[in-house]
Amino acid sequence: MIKILETRDANASEILFISNENEATTLGITAIESIQAYKKVTPLLETQRICLGIEWKEQHKTFDPFHRLDWFELGAALMQSIKHTNINSLHIDVFPSSDSDLQTFLLGIAQANYEFDTYLPKKKEKEIGISLSNDVQNQYNATKFKWNYLDSSMRIARNMVNETPEEFNPKTAVDFVKTQLRDYKHVSVVTMSYDDLELRGMQGITFVGRASRYKPQMVHVTLKPKGVTKKKIVLVGKGLTYDCGGLDIKYGGSMRTMKMDMGGSAAMFGVINTFAQLQPESTEIHWITAYAENMIDGSSYKADDIVTTYSGQTVEVYNTDAEGRMTLADMLAYATELNPDIIVDAATLTGAAIRAWGHEFISLMSNDFELYDQIQLAMEEVGEWCAPTPLWESLRSQVKGDASDLINTSKTDSKEAGHITAGLFLSHFVDQKLFRGDRWDKIDTKKEFKWAHLDIAGPAYNEKKNKIGVSGATGSGIRGLVYWIDSLDM
Ligand code: BES
Ligand code: ZN
Ligand code: ZN
Repeated sequence: MIKILETRDANASEILFISNENEATTLGITAIESIQAYKKVTPLLETQRICLGIEWKEQHKTFDPFHRLDWFELGAALMQSIKHTNINSLHIDVFPSSDSDLQTFLLGIAQANYEFDTYLPKKKEKEIGISLSNDVQNQYNATKFKWNYLDSSMRIARNMVNETPEEFNPKTAVDFVKTQLRDYKHVSVVTMSYDDLELRGMQGITFVGRASRYKPQMVHVTLKPKGVTKKKIVLVGKGLTYDCGGLDIKYGGSMRTMKMDMGGSAAMFGVINTFAQLQPESTEIHWITAYAENMIDGSSYKADDIVTTYSGQTVEVYNTDAEGRMTLADMLAYATELNPDIIVDAATLTGAAIRAWGHEFISLMSNDFELYDQIQLAMEEVGEWCAPTPLWESLRSQVKGDASDLINTSKTDSKEAGHITAGLFLSHFVDQKLFRGDRWDKIDTKKEFKWAHLDIAGPAYNEKKNKIGVSGATGSGIRGLVYWIDSLDM
């Protein structure tokens, strides 16, 4: 755990930020490699001081808008380098950037310290104390978004993902959410049982989840602002507590790590949990997740089944492993009923997003340019990089059915641009003009809602340590979405 200390420890290592050669020389750093330290992410460790380079944002020849100083990454790099040393006390005398960068830097330190050690005999986390000079303390006090709000939310979210699928299943998940949020007066949690979902005709969810010992359940969390509601945002998270693929079973080791398939729900929980503590002024936030397990028994849904979704649109199942979009279809249609200004979903949706962008980038899609830009910029501000992913209209025919409105993979090759065709599939469930049936025909003015989709299949989980030394669940999406919502909340 990280603690902010009142006074400086006698044996504290001072953190020095170096931005050029002169500073390095003044500090007595002479060796050629060390002078280069100001351009490196790797900290230079000495007994009483730790030098951190902050000039590694130089322009690259190639087009890489993402290569710039990232305070979260820098904090994490510092933590990684001292993790296995006996340094356990730090001091910051001067911090060379903004108040919010200071919080991001501290959050990076705290998050790189996180370990999933529930099943180990000894805690793996380090106890670290950090003291601040008066000036830095003033900077620290100047912002309302302290690192520890995000840190505690991200820890819970990462634990949710890292926890075993046996422990974290659709039933325990719903109980967990209720327990976590029960003490906040401005937060309410409504749950829908399997029978409720069936009665409502949410076959996208019930078909996918019905072969599990733990039947699907939906949570709908509402968070009220301090004042009058000026904006309403609905967050939707994919919540597959396990995805074995269903009858189209995952093979050759590709099933392992599929406990992460509720990473979207964990991200949205993280956002809600942060705003539960720091109540928004005028933004009402909803969070919807259907928790389900994609499993196999005699009741499994099958390729060839045609499912009638909550929206009334029919979907032919081509592959039972494309289950996430089936459940999201119902959640998104349900989200439109709340008549929000904006809908955002996060999902570990496709292997294609990983093949296209790797593990560092969120694949961001939207049906609205302005919303796209807003989210992209907010994410970038905190160092959560989004790869711009167009919803190419010419690919839409790939998800159109012959015997149904839609199919759940792509017609010609489900591996080609699979993250985009998945996004296009989802777009059909935020446009009420496409919805059919009594429930929807009652609505006078059917709307297409502003919507953004974050495919976090890559960044949500790292089997090996990522560049900042984090493995397992990462809490991807939380920091950026919190920052984005806060920037809208006036
Ligand atoms: N949960 C997976 C996507 C995934 C894969 C997330 C790897 C994280 C790591 C999703 O349900 C899935 O299996 N998608 C299929 C879709 C295909 C059958 C059209 C995929 O991406 O292969
Ligand atoms: Zn799947
Ligand atoms: Zn899945």
